Amino acid sequence: MSLSMKAIVLTKYGSSEALQFREVAKPIPKDNEVLVKIHATSINDWDWCLMRGTPFYIRLLCGLLKPKVQIPGVDIAGEVVAIGKNVSQLKPGDRVYGDLSENGFGGFAEYACAPVTTLALMPKNMSYIDAAAIPHAAMLALQGLRDLGKIQPGQKLLINGAGGGVGTLGVQIAKSIGVENITGVDCSNKLDMMRSLGFDRTIDYQQEDFTENERNYDLILDPKTNRSIFKYLRVLKPHGTYVTVGGETPRLLQALFLFPIIRFFLKKNVLVLALKPNKDLDYIKELFEAGQIKPVIKSFYKLSEVPEAIQHFGEGNHQGKVIITLESNL
Ligand SMILES: NC(=O)c1ccc[n+]([C@@H]2O[C@H](COP(=O)([O-])OP(=O)(O)OC[C@H]3O[C@@H](n4cnc5c(N)ncnc54)[C@H](OP(=O)(O)O)[C@@H]3O)[C@@H](O)[C@H]2O)c1
Repeated sequence: MSLSMKAIVLTKYGSSEALQFREVAKPIPKDNEVLVKIHATSINDWDWCLMRGTPFYIRLLCGLLKPKVQIPGVDIAGEVVAIGKNVSQLKPGDRVYGDLSENGFGGFAEYACAPVTTLALMPKNMSYIDAAAIPHAAMLALQGLRDLGKIQPGQKLLINGAGGGVGTLGVQIAKSIGVENITGVDCSNKLDMMRSLGFDRTIDYQQEDFTENERNYDLILDPKTNRSIFKYLRVLKPHGTYVTVGGETPRLLQALFLFPIIRFFLKKNVLVLALKPNKDLDYIKELFEAGQIKPVIKSFYKLSEVPEAIQHFGEGNHQGKVIITLESNL
């Protein structure tokens, strides 16, 4: 077996030119890890932020002047090819998927090592491509809707930035819970796709500011958080909840610090999601096996094209998830 592999290496912060397609040493699994031959991976906001070194907290987490992350890439789907000496839960040949964001990243490569606890067995009816689209975005959507949002059948839900990874999986998760009244906000070229997924109402943010209209929601799930928190509070019902999944740093800080005051005086909840990666992959597996969720994937790239794929994602040109397939491994 070769001791090297192809990977996308992040050499500095800046632009897509900082990402280089190189030959690097193949990782060796530690005692509690497995080595996965990656068949597909996907682009996430982490990759866009790491490539540019912004917002600033990315540098606090991943290296102030130079990235400590050598190989970015969050979601992986592939086949176990070697196991560490303490691993009994997985074996070579198992088809697995998972989110590496708490384990040093490394998804943009032919192989990655991951602790066995980070990975789950893929459902039998799931392709590697679907599997690469799911872990990060589905956990954000599920934990935002169910754990923080306490979403209930019959409630009125709005998802802002609904045409990306979180929104397109989030609407399907909410429908599976029995939510019937779901509004999605995104740009005009994504609205048809969003309606086909089950959004009951769609809003083009370039034409209409939903925080200015008179509708009231039980829950707002927001992967974009691009306005003052007080604007969102305007369109929440009494005791309604606003959950931010991510977005502009000043808005996130506003949500974090003002939450107790808003709750006390306005009787509404403003909550910031802290993702627990891979925690609910079993829940998602059941939904997938029952045909209740299917990721939206419209763009495919090769491993060598990761810089272009990240640029495409960052410019907001994508619908649902952007997938990287590893032809040499398929
Ligand atoms: N909480 C945590 O622990 C945690 C961990 C990791 C990541 N995150 C966050 O989770 C989020 C991931 O979301 P995602 O994967 O769904 O992102 P995404 O795929 O980029 O989707 C965001 C969508 O919002 C749309 N959009 C842009 N501007 C908008 C506006 N003004 N109003 C409404 N929609 C707008 C984008 O489309 P156009 O640009 O084409 O308009 C895009 O379709 C990110 O914010 C990330 O930072 C959170």
